[in-house]
Amino acid sequence: MPAISASAPAKIILFGEHAVVYGRPAIAVPVDQVKARAAIQAEPLARQGIIKIEAPEINLASTLEQLPRDHPLRVTIENVLAALKVTSPPAFTLRISSTIPLASGLGSGAAVSVAVIRAVSSFLGKPLDDQRISDLAYQTELIYHGTPSGIDNTVVAFDKPVYFMQGKPIQTFPIQHPFTIIIGDTGVCNSTAEMVGYVRARWQVDPTGFETIFDQIGSITNQGRQAIQHGRINDLGPMLDENQVLLQQLGVSTPALERLINAAHQAGASGAKLSGKGGGGNMIALADPQDAPFISSALYAAGAVRTIITQVH
Ligand code: MEV
Repeated sequence: MPAISASAPAKIILFGEHAVVYGRPAIAVPVDQVKARAAIQAEPLARQGIIKIEAPEINLASTLEQLPRDHPLRVTIENVLAALKVTSPPAFTLRISSTIPLASGLGSGAAVSVAVIRAVSSFLGKPLDDQRISDLAYQTELIYHGTPSGIDNTVVAFDKPVYFMQGKPIQTFPIQHPFTIIIGDTGVCNSTAEMVGYVRARWQVDPTGFETIFDQIGSITNQGRQAIQHGRINDLGPMLDENQVLLQQLGVSTPALERLINAAHQAGASGAKLSGKGGGGNMIALADPQDAPFISSALYAAGAVRTIITQVH
């Protein structure tokens, strides 16, 4: 049987993180420069049902059944087998690798799940469509952070810009004019569960204040969608800045993020904000394509450990 491989991109959230957990819309886009990959090799000499997993970047080499029952990879694979009604698959080795920085708001967990689900279902001769892949990846997201909105698995599985609202069918939308985003990584890793939990604790103390902030973020997201759809890219910069002010009010920005955001502005970005869960992780800046390398250098000078220049199209 030939080897099968599948990949999935990273993601950034342009507008609406955190508010999306409370039913407001958010916009996310794939980032194809970095990817998670899953490759499967049949092991015809091994006993039926034996699944070996190798993920050298996290020092993992194990069989499926040796992994703890709640290990995200075990849960992901067992969920695919159950969804496909396969009780005893032919033996195989699954190799996982990823160039997506871990725990930094770029959706690395969702991308690994999507790549694994896609590869395993194809290997078993029952490839799943993007929606089923997204739904299964969501089950794994539940382990990573308890109350995921579902935006990460959706954008990563569909590999398209999405306008997302929890519990609603996915909406894609046309990008009238492509635009350039520079992503800057603070190098500070943290868990989504921690940041989502932090916002929830603050929301419980001041539900009215936080609901108002979520409404304001939702309204910027809708304006952002209109601007993107109608090619009004110049309008997007100030919207990113406004969203960042509201994220500061939620308490998820940090001095390291603000340093990068300020550096991007000073280097000519028309808008910038943190992207994803915050508390560290990544920020994004909007700029003319010719200014992107200069902004990237300014981000490194301000402490970024990595930058990615990507085009939204
Ligand atoms: C994480 O990429 C985005 C958050 O809004 C959490 C979620 O939507 O599940 C912080």
